[in-house]
Amino acid sequence: MFNLEKLVRKNILALQQYSSARDEYKGKDAIFLDANENPFGELNRYPDPKQLELKKQLGKIKNIPAENIFIGNGSDEVIDLAYRIFCEPGKDKALTFTPTYGMYDVSAGINDVELIKVPLTDDFQINFAATESYLQDENLKLIFICSPNNPTGNNIDNIEKIIEKFNGIIFIDEAYIDFSNAESFLKKISQYPNIIISQTFSKAWGLAAARVGTAYSSKAIIDLYNKVKPPYNVSKLNQDEALKTLLATDDFENIKKIILAEREKLIKNLSSLPIVKKIYPSDANFILVEVDDANKTYETLVEAKVITRNRNNVVRNCLRITVGSEEENGRLVASLNPSEGGT
Ligand SMILES: Cc1ncc(COP(=O)(O)O)c(C=O)c1O
Repeated sequence: MFNLEKLVRKNILALQQYSSARDEYKGKDAIFLDANENPFGELNRYPDPKQLELKKQLGKIKNIPAENIFIGNGSDEVIDLAYRIFCEPGKDKALTFTPTYGMYDVSAGINDVELIKVPLTDDFQINFAATESYLQDENLKLIFICSPNNPTGNNIDNIEKIIEKFNGIIFIDEAYIDFSNAESFLKKISQYPNIIISQTFSKAWGLAAARVGTAYSSKAIIDLYNKVKPPYNVSKLNQDEALKTLLATDDFENIKKIILAEREKLIKNLSSLPIVKKIYPSDANFILVEVDDANKTYETLVEAKVITRNRNNVVRNCLRITVGSEEENGRLVASLNPSEGGT
C-alpha cells in the first residue's frame, strides 16, 4: 500500500516551512517595509514565492489546478528536491534505467543516496524481469523514468506496470514530451497518488536560459515540494518570461512543427552518409546516431565547430545530435559528407 507519510523523510515531515509577511498579507496596495528590500528600482521587490500567475496560466493550458503544480529553477531542481524529500542520505535508495539523463546520478551523489541502475533492453525499454526484485526493497523510495528517454530518444512503454507494482514514488521525466506522440501522464495524477511528472520550459518552449521547470503531482506531494524549496527559487524575470511564452502558444506550435520536420529531414540526410551505421527512432528533439567511430567523428565535428554529444561511453559509437535550425543541420551534414569535404 502506498503511504506518503511513511515515504517522506522524518525531518521534512517535521519541517516548519519558511514564511514571510507576504504570506500573511496578500494585497498589492500597501507600503511594504517587511522584507528589507530597497524602495527604489524595478526589480527591487522579491518575486511571488508561489508563482501564482504562472501556475494559473499553465493550469489553463494543461487543465490542472494550480495546487497540483510546482515551479522549479529548471527541472534539475525538481529532480534534486525529490531526493531531498524522500531519501534519507546514506540509507535510502533510488533506481533508474540506463542509459538515461545524467542528473539522476549526480543528484543522488550530492544527496548521498545510492542509485540502482538497471540497464534498458537492446531496444531501450524497461527490463521488467531485471527490475522486479528491487521493487520490494523498503529502502527504495524513488524510481526515475525518463520518457522520451535521453539519450536514446524513444518513449518508454508500459510505465504503468511499474507504477502499479511499486509503493514508492515514480518520477516520470517528460522533458521531451512535447516532441512525442505518446500521451503525457499528466492526466493520471489523480489516478496515481505516487507519481510526479516533471516537464520543462527548456526544450519545446525554448526557454533554457530562463531556468523554469515544473512538477505535477498530488496536492500532498506538491505541498512537500513547496515546503523544502528555497522561498524565492524562481526569479521575477524568469516567471515573467515563462508567462509571456505561455501566452504565445501559436509560436510554440509553429516552432515545434519546424523542429519535427527538421528532425525527419536530418534523419534522411544523415542516413545517406557512409559513416552512419544506424539512426535510432526518435520521439524527441535529438537523435542518437551510431557511426563507425564516435570519438573520431566527434573530433572531426569539433574541428568544423559543430558540437554534438559524444555518448560513446554509454551507447557504443553513438553521438547524440540535437535537431537544430535548417542551416545548422545543413552544416552538420556537410561536415560529415566526403563529397563536400567532410569525413
Ligand atoms: C531528461 C531531462 N530532464 C531534465 C533536464 C533538465 O532540464 P531543465 O533545463 O529544466 O533543468 C534535461 C536537460 O537536458 C533532460 O534531458
